[in-house]
Amino acid sequence: MKDLKLKVDEGTCTKCGLCADDCPTRVVIVKPGGYPEVTAGREDQCIACQHCLAVCPSGALSVFGLDPGDSEPWDASKAPSPESMGWLVRNRRSARKYRQENVPAAVINELLDDLQYVPTGGNRRHLRFTVVDDLGAMARLLGRIVTLCEKAVAQGGGSRLAAGVVKYYRRDGHDALFRGAPHLLVVSASREQGTAAQDVSLALAYFELLAASRGLGTCWCGFLSLIEAAVPGVREELGLAPDDTFYSLYFGFPAVRYGRAPQRRGTSQVCRWS
Ligand SMILES: Cc1cc2nc3c(=O)[nH]c(=O)nc-3n(C[C@H](O)[C@H](O)[C@H](O)COP(=O)(O)O)c2cc1C
Repeated sequence: MKDLKLKVDEGTCTKCGLCADDCPTRVVIVKPGGYPEVTAGREDQCIACQHCLAVCPSGALSVFGLDPGDSEPWDASKAPSPESMGWLVRNRRSARKYRQENVPAAVINELLDDLQYVPTGGNRRHLRFTVVDDLGAMARLLGRIVTLCEKAVAQGGGSRLAAGVVKYYRRDGHDALFRGAPHLLVVSASREQGTAAQDVSLALAYFELLAASRGLGTCWCGFLSLIEAAVPGVREELGLAPDDTFYSLYFGFPAVRYGRAPQRRGTSQVCRWS
């Protein structure tokens, strides 16, 4: 049975019941006139979302040994405006040219810290983030993948894409896979988790926007997934377990500036249920 370590500061708790109202699995209850408590026998239903801690107006509730005083306080003045969120979505671009310069480690770490807040199905928080930290490591990874592609193609396997990546790399060192980006983020999760594919994509989508807000360029790397599916050894090179699902993007300081956004209004089908 899970130990939720629910603790209530009876000096500041107003018994308002918001913690119980907001608990998605009805683990926390407030009996009439009582303080919040855990429903006996429902401990294992807790998904550790911390909504009880987060919603409490007086910060009176602690769970899992966490001090609500250590949480970032709500401050509406920090929220991006609808205009700036929309601007970011419309003006982030897939970057395919990069300055040959590493993103400072502190910036990468802050981005990874923010990724801890991305939602996951059932709050499973089962994602693994694998980062390639610098240009040197990217060059080594590219070299190894090219070698694996070469071997697969020589043995009559691989794919046209794998053959193309090898051809351009061997011809003049051109990187058709990661486009010369200094960093790669691989997000992976065990397929056994029901929402693994959604959680992986969501983390990458959030990362893309977080990176764009800092002036960084990103590009989702579908090519790496295609190559992994066709070339033996790439999965192992990326440190992935056999049942992991993954997707990736590369990122860095973009070497291209765009003077305007493309025009996409009306290009997706919008349907209304009736
Ligand atoms: C799932 C996914 C996989 C992608 N894979 C690649 C890729 O392997 N190589 C590449 O150059 N661009 C890749 N892209 C970028 C798309 O081509 C790009 O998003 C699209 O052309 C729209 O351009 P924009 O992102 O600048 O708006 C991928 C995008 C997505 C969403």
